[in-house]
Amino acid sequence: EIDASRGDVLSLADKPLETTDQFEAHLVWMHEDKGIVGRSYELKLCNQWSSATLTRLKYKTNINTLAHEPAVSLSLNDIGLCQISLSKPLVHGAYKEMHALGSFILVDKLTNATVAAGMITNSLRRAQNIHKQQTTITASDRERLNGHAGKVIWFTGLSGSGKSTISNALEVALHQRGLRTYTLDGDNIRLGLNKDLGFTETDRVENIRRVAEVAKLMADAGLVVMTAFISPYRQDRAMARELIGADRFIEVFLDTPLHICESRDVKGLYAKARQGSIPNFTGVNSPYEEPSAPDILINTQQMNQAQCVEILSRKIFV
Ligand code: ADX
Repeated sequence: EIDASRGDVLSLADKPLETTDQFEAHLVWMHEDKGIVGRSYELKLCNQWSSATLTRLKYKTNINTLAHEPAVSLSLNDIGLCQISLSKPLVHGAYKEMHALGSFILVDKLTNATVAAGMITNSLRRAQNIHKQQTTITASDRERLNGHAGKVIWFTGLSGSGKSTISNALEVALHQRGLRTYTLDGDNIRLGLNKDLGFTETDRVENIRRVAEVAKLMADAGLVVMTAFISPYRQDRAMARELIGADRFIEVFLDTPLHICESRDVKGLYAKARQGSIPNFTGVNSPYEEPSAPDILINTQQMNQAQCVEILSRKIFV
């Protein structure tokens, strides 16, 4: 007896269909918001859904000459060959052999807009050759030894909003209470792990993707991790929450208005950006998308540092 329900796929025993969690596909981009490597979307293939990340853009096709051109993003009406990685394996086929199992759409996770249509060319062999390895010591063993849960406190806000200052003060308070902590700070990470990245949208997406992966590992190690990055895009903060797990992810929005950050201008960067010598500066000539429902909102004008830390500690360790 087989328990099959709507959406399950039956295939012939002597000609089984393949499942994969990584494939290559032609994408037709259908939205004004660009498709960017590192960003994740919901993917619908027949009636199967999975979270999907664009892991590589091999080229985009110039529709006038049909030439293959290098690209880091897909704009409205662009067609490109991409590699896509899924959060779970899906039954699929190559589009040229089976249209139904070879075609899919990508949907924006926050707005539910359909942003792209895709046609699978082939699954990637590497997907078949890598398997998750279970370790004997688990996250809960490490948490038990540490005496507290691993968590990620994700600070977001404009440059100068107080992310580094407040996260540092919070780490001091937690450390004094005997918690095992670590701070991942934007400027520091950009001096090492992410020194190859700048401030274009594509680079910021990759910056946040790597930070989210590192924070996840550190939370698995049982640490309370503070991350202090502008993280200007809602989609990328949502990706971090999904990757790390909503139960151990706390988004803290430092709601400091632009004119206050600009009047502080500790590093002199706003002045330079206004003079036009820094392109893509957040708040000046690059967007900041405020969280619509952060777990904690801190108004740094109404509270001093000690009060901020008090509120955070109370909300984090109820
Ligand atoms: S993020 O947008 O990708 O999350 P991140 O937090 O890593 O940014 O880095 C921001 C820090 O880099 C700022 O605090 C500032 O010191 C510096 N910086 C340099 N250039 C820029 C820029 N164009 N926009 C914003 N911050 C910049």
